[in-house]
Amino acid sequence: MATLQTERLLLRPWRNEDIEAWVALCADARVMEFFPSTVERAESERTANRLRLLHERDGYGWWVVQTREDPAFIGAIALQQVPFEAAFTPAFEIGWRFFPSAWGKGYATEGARAALTFAFERLELEEVVALTATLNRRSRRVMERLGMTYDSRDDFENLRFEPGHRCRPHVLYRVQRGGESPQREAP
Ligand SMILES: CC(C)(COP(=O)(O)OP(=O)(O)OC[C@H]1O[C@@H](n2cnc3c(N)ncnc32)[C@H](O)[C@@H]1OP(=O)(O)O)[C@@H](O)C(=O)NCCC(=O)NCCS
Repeated sequence: MATLQTERLLLRPWRNEDIEAWVALCADARVMEFFPSTVERAESERTANRLRLLHERDGYGWWVVQTREDPAFIGAIALQQVPFEAAFTPAFEIGWRFFPSAWGKGYATEGARAALTFAFERLELEEVVALTATLNRRSRRVMERLGMTYDSRDDFENLRFEPGHRCRPHVLYRVQRGGESPQREAP
């Protein structure tokens, strides 16, 4: 089952038109504020095609996120192996990247919950992590809303950033199976 459904969203496989949306997403300075840089078209096209193939192969990875009413790409949610070595790897991570027009609606948290459920129920993982630049408050709030926990002993330097870069210090959040916050608040 490559598509996940939530109350308001679909997390679905890639279509041709999503490649162009990914290019625009990764060229947006607001979206890429806590990444090494914005990304040029050719590199983003390569990445999107790779993510699409991996999703087709595995049935998970980077899902495209759309609302249930509109097929347009509004962002992406990831569930993947952490693609580098660190004290906490091997590990599976969740991640998110949305157009600013889709921020402030709870979409990242809602979509990530579905990916976590997939991780624990379908892949039967025991733990999922999430990581981001220490300064990325918005992303950290998503992790906290999901019920993930932070321990400063897991802080690390992300070597994708030059020494001294303001985004080099990173934080790690963890959640174990059964530890995630519920889908909806209790009434
Ligand atoms: C990180 C990112 C996904 C967070 O997006 P977000 O919209 O702030 O996060 P959520 O989807 O959880 O939405 C929460 C916000 O929606 C609001 N909201 C509105 N309706 C809501 C609802 N029905 N349910 C939950 N929250 C709702 C919340 O109050 C909260 O707003 P606040 O932070 O101003 O208090 C987004 O900023 C982004 O794509 N950034 C660029 C990429 C990036 O940095 N990715 C992470 C790199 S590791």
